[in-house]
Amino acid sequence: MSFPENFVWGAATAAYQIEGAVQEDGRGLSIWDTFSHTPGKTKNGDTGDIACDSYHRWAEDIALLKEMHLKAYRFSIAWPRIFPEGTGAVNPAGLAWYDRLVDALLAAGIEPYVTLYHWDLPQALQDKGGWLNDDTAKAFAGYAAAVAAHFKGRVRYYFTLNEPQCSVGLGYSSGVHAPGFRLDDGSVFTAWHNTIYAHCLAADAIRRADPDARVGMAPTGRICTPATDDPADIAAAREATFALADGDWTFTYAPALDPLCGRGWPVIAGGQAQRVVDAIPQEQLDALPLGRLDFIGMNIYNSVMVRAGANGKPEFCPRAAGHPRTAIGWPITPESMEWGTRFIWERYGLPIYITENGLSCTDSIHLDGKVHDPARIDFTHRYLLALRRAIDSGVDVRGYFHWSLLDNFEWSEGYNERFGLIYLDYATGKRTPKDSAAWYAKVAETNGKNL
Ligand code: NOJ
Repeated sequence: MSFPENFVWGAATAAYQIEGAVQEDGRGLSIWDTFSHTPGKTKNGDTGDIACDSYHRWAEDIALLKEMHLKAYRFSIAWPRIFPEGTGAVNPAGLAWYDRLVDALLAAGIEPYVTLYHWDLPQALQDKGGWLNDDTAKAFAGYAAAVAAHFKGRVRYYFTLNEPQCSVGLGYSSGVHAPGFRLDDGSVFTAWHNTIYAHCLAADAIRRADPDARVGMAPTGRICTPATDDPADIAAAREATFALADGDWTFTYAPALDPLCGRGWPVIAGGQAQRVVDAIPQEQLDALPLGRLDFIGMNIYNSVMVRAGANGKPEFCPRAAGHPRTAIGWPITPESMEWGTRFIWERYGLPIYITENGLSCTDSIHLDGKVHDPARIDFTHRYLLALRRAIDSGVDVRGYFHWSLLDNFEWSEGYNERFGLIYLDYATGKRTPKDSAAWYAKVAETNGKNL
């Protein structure tokens, strides 16, 4: 009952959610600048213009990571800082900023885990169709190659895409994220396919630029957990995890991971997407093996419960009245950690990193000047115990990144939701570690022996 030696304890963030400084050093516009500045798209009209001001306060962030004994930091590079127009000439000032960050992390003994696309597509590429245009995939590979060549020998771990389920599903189907499209025909799948194709080209480009680099992706998706330990319920939960949800196939792991792990495209429910799948040019299908993964990142927050109904077919079980929820309203389901990693491991057999896990709480500075967040400690403790059960049962989990290091810009929810181990006073940028930061520091320091 312990975490493996060399288990990686870390925390995660993303560029648009923390950096601010959106007009500095030649950064180009991204689709999130456009979207968040469009009235009605985010709560309170919040934008990432300033966010946590990490562009200026990055040294404080690194000091906080170090105080927490964390060995790894997952952050994303803003594509429009490196290529303001998406393609063309590289912006040296953009690279120079990440040079400072990466070098300071390495000096502090913290391994950088870099996400290349955490949703901030250069607006210039959106103007040419965004993910509906396969040129975006090629542009992404160019950007990935430039980054990997530049950071060769300094950055070893890359995640190409963060949650394509959200950048495509929320961006092109429900429209609640940038670019805010509500497409209801097969073209959602065009965006999906181009995104996966982009991963493949980028994975290849990274490996060519730096053969020592390791490449993964950080998807999310619906995890189903069994209502009981009865093998029939477990089988039903497994089946439902990989089935394509009616009407919303995007929020599942299979369409991201199956094609990259040699299982082909799953048959997309509804048939409209199937037309697009059937029309994918051979040369793009041939690119799928280039996207092979060295590891899978999983962003795990919650799950739904399933039991075997008539004929063993999966049946969804409603949560009991009053089931505990986080501040954003998501159910608290530690079992998602155990079953989610088990099912993904069984199906794909690749090492796993938990690239995100965490919760929003209604945190505030208390009278004593501290931020007491017992709910975050209890949540994380329960999820980590469940993760350890998965590891004990043989799942190869290499690391855990808490989401998030800092309270930050929660996309369309704006600054309402606080996911950080560190509290942010947005008026001043002041960082105050919450009680959970000290607790998590102990976990990292003892490799989870205190759990
Ligand atoms: C998913 C995303 O990757 C991240 O950007 C977001 O803030 C968290 N999960 C919480 O919703």
